[in-house]
Amino acid sequence: MSKTINPAIIAVATGAMALLGGCTSDPDSPGLEYMPDMYRSPAIEAYVDYGQDPYYFGDSLAKAQRNTMSARLPVEGTIPFAGHEEDAAYNFPYAYPRTEEGYEAAGRELHSPIPMTEATVAQGKEIYDIFCIECHGAKGQGDGTVVNKGNYPPPPAYDGNQLKDLPEGKMYHSISYGRNIAMGAHASQLSPKERWLVIQYVKYLQHGGKMPGEAPQASTTTAEAQ
Ligand code: HEC
Repeated sequence: MSKTINPAIIAVATGAMALLGGCTSDPDSPGLEYMPDMYRSPAIEAYVDYGQDPYYFGDSLAKAQRNTMSARLPVEGTIPFAGHEEDAAYNFPYAYPRTEEGYEAAGRELHSPIPMTEATVAQGKEIYDIFCIECHGAKGQGDGTVVNKGNYPPPPAYDGNQLKDLPEGKMYHSISYGRNIAMGAHASQLSPKERWLVIQYVKYLQHGGKMPGEAPQASTTTAEAQ
């Protein structure tokens, strides 16, 4: 014997549920929660609203719970490293203030955490071609397209007298904070690691498009003897 549910019963049940669900006059009310535990798990999960239904528990308790964070901020002073300990070095707070003394001190004490290799220079070039080339020019001669249009003061050439011996710490300082009026701060565009990478390419251009230490006329080196 097969049993069927009378469609009339379904219609009455659905109608009763709709009536019960909609029987408050406040348009913000979610309606009666039959089983609040099913909506609000006792386990703490990120981004879940733990405020209980104010219609059920009262306004003050609901408010207090809404102000309880579930996604925690890191402890103050925490240095992010995303699983790679070497990344922590880049995220230490920058110790040098935006003053001439800070600039000089960075020039004396601050050194790149990245050893300079052809691969890092190539990575630096990619960043340079996006953020710096329009002013400094492809070879760092201060003749980028923005400057060539005529309304912008040309930056000094990287391998000219003013900048050819500029220490990397000063470069980092200037890229982070900007330099005088014409060179803007790039701290919001480049992470500390990217700043050090682009500096590798600037150093490469300072040396006339060669790795520092590479002899200008690379002729008699151990590379040849091997
Ligand atoms: C809007 C044009 C512009 C852009 C973009 C720009 N620079 Fe500069 N930069 C300048 C000018 C102009 C100066 C000279 C500032 C001065 O000494 O008054 C300068 C100076 C510098 C110096 C020497 C700073 C010092 O301490 O004397 C370095 C190094 C440098 N820029 C690197 C970069 C790098 C790397 C980028 C890209 C991430 C970049 N610049 C992007 C215009 C620019």
